[in-house]
Amino acid sequence: MCGIIGIVGATPVQDRLIESLKRLEYRGYDSAGIAAVVGGKVERRRAEGKIRALEAVLAAAPLGGSVGIGHTRWATHGAPSLRNAHPHTQGRVTLVHNGIIENYAELRERLQATGRAFESETDTEVIAALLDSELATGLAPIAALKATLDQLSGAYALGVLVEGEDGLIMGARRGSPLVVGYGDGEMFLGSDALAVGPFTNRVCYLEEGDFVAITHTGAKIFDQAGQPVERPVRTVPASAALVEKGNYRHFMEKEIHDQPEGCQRTIAAYVDTLSAITAIPGGVDFANLGRIQIVACGTSYIAGLLGKYLIEQLADLPVDVEIASEFRYRQPALQADALVIAMSQSGETADTLAALRYCQAKGMRSAAVVNAVESTMAREVDVVWPIHCGPEIGVASTKAFTAQICVLTALAVAAARARGRIDEAEEQRLVRVLLEAPRLVAESIELKEAVQRVAVEVSKARDVLYLGRGPMYPLSLEGALKLKEISYIHAEGYAAGELKHGPIALVDENTPIVILAPFDSYFEKSASNMNEVMARGGQVIFITDPEGQKHAPAGARVVVTAPRCDPLIAPLVYSPPMQLLAYHVAVLKGADVDQPRNLAKSVTVE
Ligand code: G6P
Repeated sequence: MCGIIGIVGATPVQDRLIESLKRLEYRGYDSAGIAAVVGGKVERRRAEGKIRALEAVLAAAPLGGSVGIGHTRWATHGAPSLRNAHPHTQGRVTLVHNGIIENYAELRERLQATGRAFESETDTEVIAALLDSELATGLAPIAALKATLDQLSGAYALGVLVEGEDGLIMGARRGSPLVVGYGDGEMFLGSDALAVGPFTNRVCYLEEGDFVAITHTGAKIFDQAGQPVERPVRTVPASAALVEKGNYRHFMEKEIHDQPEGCQRTIAAYVDTLSAITAIPGGVDFANLGRIQIVACGTSYIAGLLGKYLIEQLADLPVDVEIASEFRYRQPALQADALVIAMSQSGETADTLAALRYCQAKGMRSAAVVNAVESTMAREVDVVWPIHCGPEIGVASTKAFTAQICVLTALAVAAARARGRIDEAEEQRLVRVLLEAPRLVAESIELKEAVQRVAVEVSKARDVLYLGRGPMYPLSLEGALKLKEISYIHAEGYAAGELKHGPIALVDENTPIVILAPFDSYFEKSASNMNEVMARGGQVIFITDPEGQKHAPAGARVVVTAPRCDPLIAPLVYSPPMQLLAYHVAVLKGADVDQPRNLAKSVTVE
């Protein structure tokens, strides 16, 4: 989604705006632009495509000025063209926006009727026009901003320059995140702490409806009603401000390799390692819960599906998992004694947030499993369950997925104990198994050479099928999603038992079929599916463990042997081969691994 940066600086801002925009690239975008106050006038530079295109524009025509705003745009209203790139200017106002203004068509018509002409197809330009006309009535900038915001419906984070107000940037947030950064004689606005990270680690997270004026000397924050308010300024951990690729070629590759450490951190937050019992923060009474409702999108939804397998099997506690964009609109039947869990790496996904709020409005208790602990979801729930895996930059989620599974596994064990389904000795056994996961995940990452060989085959395919049973079924969905996302090869994940009900028609000698089959209670059935596929000329890539390899039907084209593990942690151990396969296929195909086309890291519009 779009990213915003604003700097009221003491020195020229062009290069610093670009540095921040690069940090916002992970959110996904298709054009970029900056604007700055130069000699009392606001000047813009914009470019379609990547930031390097904007850098080329700046090399030809540098932008002076020490007060400026910048934006990466992920197109919603209007094509990803130069004309639609932010910042947008109307009269004295130049601004950048993340979000969607729902009543923009009506506002645009009204403004056109007063003689306003529009240069772009965006909803953003309408905000600039509205603010400019409020200023023309003689209102001071902050009063004009308030009058403008009162007329908008929808979601926004804004960064605004006003011609004639040289040392001022205004901002506002409703539905989309915005932080204020405090420097030394300089002030910043950004979509997140990462954006302002190179300049300061002292930030303030604006609340819903807040708007702000920043100058060289500080920030004046107002709440939705226009009352001045104080918001806490916190020092963010270095990890939020320092995100580097290290020795890896891509963030995704680094993040796959971060997983053993990430899982370790996550597990340590949910178990007492000494006594080997679970220690779940937040005081949820699992014994008296009637049901869990998980809402999520994308990879987080698939993690939620795994949660259902884990929690229902271990704790005998019913779990519903639903794609948030469906859930929020279909008037689902809810149970008052249920707990809603929003699963979200970013904590900002618009549909997940709406589904969460829907449940809260019906009186349900709420929890959020999030990576971004300062996110809107984290701030709005009764219980926050952080995943502690550090900032995830690659658009395709990897380490957040395994960290989410760690949290869900710990919750499942804790719920099983609280509900009397397991005794203390079994709880300790399961916790010790979970504590083995980081080491086994590291071993599983070492399969990369075997996976690289498979990737050569898969990179030539047009379609790929992923099959699995039990918890390997959600994982087959994740494997297929990863491949689609970054290599643009069509892939489908299926419950292996469904093979005969449709997907088998796709099997031919050109379709690789990845079968996920640890040597567990489902193994024989998965092996039968493998035979059915091979009998029809299908090329099987069998991912199993040493015992499974011994019992595998002869004839699998490729066998990848994962480390042997307890079924409890198989979803964690079998994740890296899926991720690495997608990664290496994408690299072989020369695709943009960290910023796949059309995708955004954090989808803050519905
Ligand atoms: C986008 C990302 C996915 C992510 C999904 C949900 O589609 O590209 O990687 O799984 O959003 O995001 P969330 O932040 O809610 O987990």
